[in-house]
Amino acid sequence: MATSVSRYSTRSTSNLAKNLVSLWTQRLRDAAIPEPRTSTQLIMDYVIRLNQCVRILPIQNGNPELTVQQIQLFNKLCSKRLDRMPVQYIIREWDFRYITLKMQPPVFIPRPETEELVDLINLHEFHHKRENESITFLDICCGSGAIGLSLLCENPQATCIAIDKDPNAISLTELNSQRLNLGSRMIVEHLDVMKTEFHHGFGHDEAVDFIVSNPPYIPSKQLASLQEEIISFESSLALDGGCDGLDIVKQILHFARLCLKDKGKIWLEVDINHPEMIEHYLNTHDTDFTYDATFKDYTNRYYSILHHLCLHMKSFNDIFIATVLILFYVFCRARFCKLEYHKKDKT
Ligand SMILES: C[S@@+](CC[C@H](N)C(=O)[O-])C[C@H]1O[C@@H](n2cnc3c(N)ncnc32)[C@H](O)[C@@H]1O
Repeated sequence: MATSVSRYSTRSTSNLAKNLVSLWTQRLRDAAIPEPRTSTQLIMDYVIRLNQCVRILPIQNGNPELTVQQIQLFNKLCSKRLDRMPVQYIIREWDFRYITLKMQPPVFIPRPETEELVDLINLHEFHHKRENESITFLDICCGSGAIGLSLLCENPQATCIAIDKDPNAISLTELNSQRLNLGSRMIVEHLDVMKTEFHHGFGHDEAVDFIVSNPPYIPSKQLASLQEEIISFESSLALDGGCDGLDIVKQILHFARLCLKDKGKIWLEVDINHPEMIEHYLNTHDTDFTYDATFKDYTNRYYSILHHLCLHMKSFNDIFIATVLILFYVFCRARFCKLEYHKKDKT
């Protein structure tokens, strides 16, 4: 499977960045690699950034000339993309909302829809709170730390306990929390939510205000149909949600009873088919949780564009765009759930 670098060794007449990007974009396109131009451009940006302090490159119209070492590195990294490695792993970092996270295979690469979940939590858990009111939350299945670290970055009064079963995820969350100077407000714990022993042993005295989780939720039988980038490079531990995709979600309900405040919320990102299944599960099982609300993916983003257009609509074009957005909103599927805990009186 490995693609040798020499197969694409530089016979190019040019060592200008734009030419190299075009060359590799075409190679990736020929090999049917998704997002060929974005991938090569991101790799080029990374190569230039990496070597910037070593040598000041002559820049011609924003089109720098690369050194031989830079060209070799660029070719090597593009070959990895040819082998379907996700560009986030190649350039070893990725932006999530206002932070840049280090990425390390096979730890799950944060997805754009999860940024919406952070928006929802900001709105419902933080906006009505006083600035000095401390809030502690639990990020279950933290991966690279994307959700927990974003919430900490955007809410200075918050502290977070981040847990994950995968030691790679734990190391990466720790690294990211240190790089972002958020380490003093985050405790990172290597824990498996499926293990019965910590039903009794979650070692924090204070109950948390809310729980957030983007757990593995893909039904096992659907894993084989995922894109090659995902199957070959991301940990199956981050994807496989068991038979119906809800193994970890159901376990989080048990786990939450040990550490969530009365009336505290659980925020979940799940598959578009799951909200109804979770509501049905809560209605038919004795779990101490009620189903509070379902939220649509991209709701805020499209609602605000629509709102803006309605205020400023002038042309037929605007009306057309607004109609498309309304249809998008109506058919847009839900993937975020909010559950509420009702602590039973133990006396
Ligand atoms: C879909 S990823 C989400 C990562 C991160 N929260 C994000 O949104 O980018 C799911 C994560 O759950 C973790 N995980 C899977 N099973 C687990 C378990 N039994 N206990 C704790 N974490 C688990 C995986 O290691 C993976 O990091």
